[in-house]
Amino acid sequence: MLEIVTFAGSLRAGSLNRLLTTAASRIAPAGLEIDVFDDLAGVPLFNEDLEAARPDGPGAVQELRRLVMGADGILIATPEYNQSIPGVMKNVVDWLSRPDGSAVLDRKPVAIMGATTGPWGTRYAQKELRHALTAAGALVMPQPMLFIPSAELAFDAAGRLTDAKIQRRLAELLSAFGDWIGLFAPRPSSLVAAEA
Ligand SMILES: Cc1cc2nc3c(=O)[nH]c(=O)nc-3n(C[C@H](O)[C@H](O)[C@H](O)COP(=O)(O)O)c2cc1C
Repeated sequence: MLEIVTFAGSLRAGSLNRLLTTAASRIAPAGLEIDVFDDLAGVPLFNEDLEAARPDGPGAVQELRRLVMGADGILIATPEYNQSIPGVMKNVVDWLSRPDGSAVLDRKPVAIMGATTGPWGTRYAQKELRHALTAAGALVMPQPMLFIPSAELAFDAAGRLTDAKIQRRLAELLSAFGDWIGLFAPRPSSLVAAEA
């Protein structure tokens, strides 16, 4: 079983991206367990002074780092603000990119998706997020991508993902993510021995 941690780069109570992470956890394919992390509000703005005072970071950061470290992969849903990622999103990447040399994001498989009320589906934000994650050493899945425009129409009043096309694309992304993570899994010792 592959363990995935998912979170959204939004603090908004009605966040569409958080709904998307919940939808992902509900339709996780066989072999994937997806846990939603929902405490980004407790993560302070990154500050090297905080890091110097406490190298393992403040409490909420320790918890997030522990989850990311223990996960086989990370699934991130990003909003788009001003054709980029929200500060909340970048702040998380910055914390997880530290400490320098032993960042929990280093060589961590990551998949990106995003929902917006706008017409372009978070294309700019996903490009920026991919860039920052790659700078931090994460192994960001190149394809498939999931851009969700007019996302307020994709969920019902109870917050459930009801758009069948998006459900299918989300399922495809999750399945591909399992394969992507598998590319970096240690090879069975029997195979290694056979090739020696
Ligand atoms: C400051 C601000 C800037 C925004 N800029 C963009 C943008 O450039 N492109 C876009 O598609 N949506 C933009 N939006 C709309 C957000 O994508 C929309 O509010 C979305 O629902 C936020 O994600 P959330 O629901 O997960 O909180 C912006 C919203 C805010 C508040």
